[in-house]
Amino acid sequence: MTTTTPDTSTDVRSAALFARAQTVTPGGVNSPVRAFLSVGGTPRFIASAKGPYLYDVDGNELVDLICSWGPMLLGHAHPEVIGAVADAASHGTSYGAPTVAEVELAAEIIDRTPVEQVRLVNSGTEATMSVLRLARGVTGRDKIIKFAGCYHGHVDALLAAAGSGVATLAAGDGSSFTGHVATPGSPGVTAATTADTIVLDYNDRAGVRQAFATYGDQIACLVTEAAAGNMGVVPPGEEDGVGFNTFLAEICAQYGALFVSDEVMTGFRLTRSGQYGLDGVQPDLMTFGKVMGGGFPAAAFGGRADLMQHLAPVGGVYQAGTLSGNPVAATAGLTTLRLATPEVYAHVDRASVRLQSEVRAALDAAGVPHVVQHAGNLFSVFFVPEGVTSVPDYATAQTQSTAAYRAFFHSMLDSGVYLPPSAFEGWFLSAAHDDAALDRVVSALPAAAAAAAAGAEL
Ligand SMILES: Cc1ncc(COP(=O)(O)O)c(C=O)c1O
Repeated sequence: MTTTTPDTSTDVRSAALFARAQTVTPGGVNSPVRAFLSVGGTPRFIASAKGPYLYDVDGNELVDLICSWGPMLLGHAHPEVIGAVADAASHGTSYGAPTVAEVELAAEIIDRTPVEQVRLVNSGTEATMSVLRLARGVTGRDKIIKFAGCYHGHVDALLAAAGSGVATLAAGDGSSFTGHVATPGSPGVTAATTADTIVLDYNDRAGVRQAFATYGDQIACLVTEAAAGNMGVVPPGEEDGVGFNTFLAEICAQYGALFVSDEVMTGFRLTRSGQYGLDGVQPDLMTFGKVMGGGFPAAAFGGRADLMQHLAPVGGVYQAGTLSGNPVAATAGLTTLRLATPEVYAHVDRASVRLQSEVRAALDAAGVPHVVQHAGNLFSVFFVPEGVTSVPDYATAQTQSTAAYRAFFHSMLDSGVYLPPSAFEGWFLSAAHDDAALDRVVSALPAAAAAAAAGAEL
């Protein structure tokens, strides 16, 4: 049923479905980046997935380097996860009342991270939205700081200079920030909503110091991706032996603002805890999602108990959800986390190191200027101009050639490798990416590098 070298004649069913989808759903997709707008061509409609592979409706087998944008750390359709989910579903799918699974999931998250209490929600967006309300409720302050190119979900106040799909669609979202005041990154986000959002450049310590010096006593929290992964992968930098996250935690403490680390993408993926496992920086509040939902809509936020105790029903900051802590989703997440052993992380790390070096070698051989960056096992490739040796921030990420990426992407797809359909996203691996899957990626690279070389000149 499978072929390993799809070409344009093998997306007939996907194309028909996409045409139909566009009549019933804006753009034919339920999340913009899936539409392939920045790379062109037909989005593949997926029929099933197993281990490291996706199977599309035309019968193509594709090595999956998205892993559902992060969640599938164990690979697709892991038998123990599927078994636990089927068992949980057989007992009913939602009760709107407390269950054992959600207590166990909260305890597992607390065991792996520095948070003392968590609240379960349904999406990363909901987690960051709720954490902002909590931070503002606790501090009695209004302003928040975020970084350009960081994406925290489609929360109004955070849709300013956002990464991920927002960056993908416009290669810049039309928002700007001058003198720290953010303008909205989407029609429908009011100027009032982002008026309290201060947008700074990632890894720019002078900018952070200046913002705190100007607005220090008004800042409720600073929210950052624990390692930026939504403008491509941009790790927190070191200066004089002090990591960017350490610097941020310290300056927040100095001004009485809360330090919020968004580990929705990195949490339970880079290490058993996430970026926290790499730099050990203790945030006041954290957000989680993706891996901890095991492929189901589940996310969480958490932090110091004294802060979390401000949430209803104990405290006055209101937050709620009909499906929050859903028993099937909580079971999927709990089972996934319990199976995410040190061996899983060691395997994903090894696979990531191998692919990074193979990508570099192929692009070097083809003479394509590029930078490969990683945060733990999460990595991405920037087709930046000759002479650019690192990408510390969104402005530099935007110098990359999206034409080169487009050519690279389609060549890989034609060879049966499913990369993110955007130059502004990380590449995700899983414990199921065995030598056979990785070999297929590696053997596709020379042609894709040659395509990128040609594409960059267009
Ligand atoms: C760092 C980060 N925060 C928040 C979100 C939003 O999560 P969701 O898409 O589940 O709303 C994402 C999504 O990619 C993310 O990468």
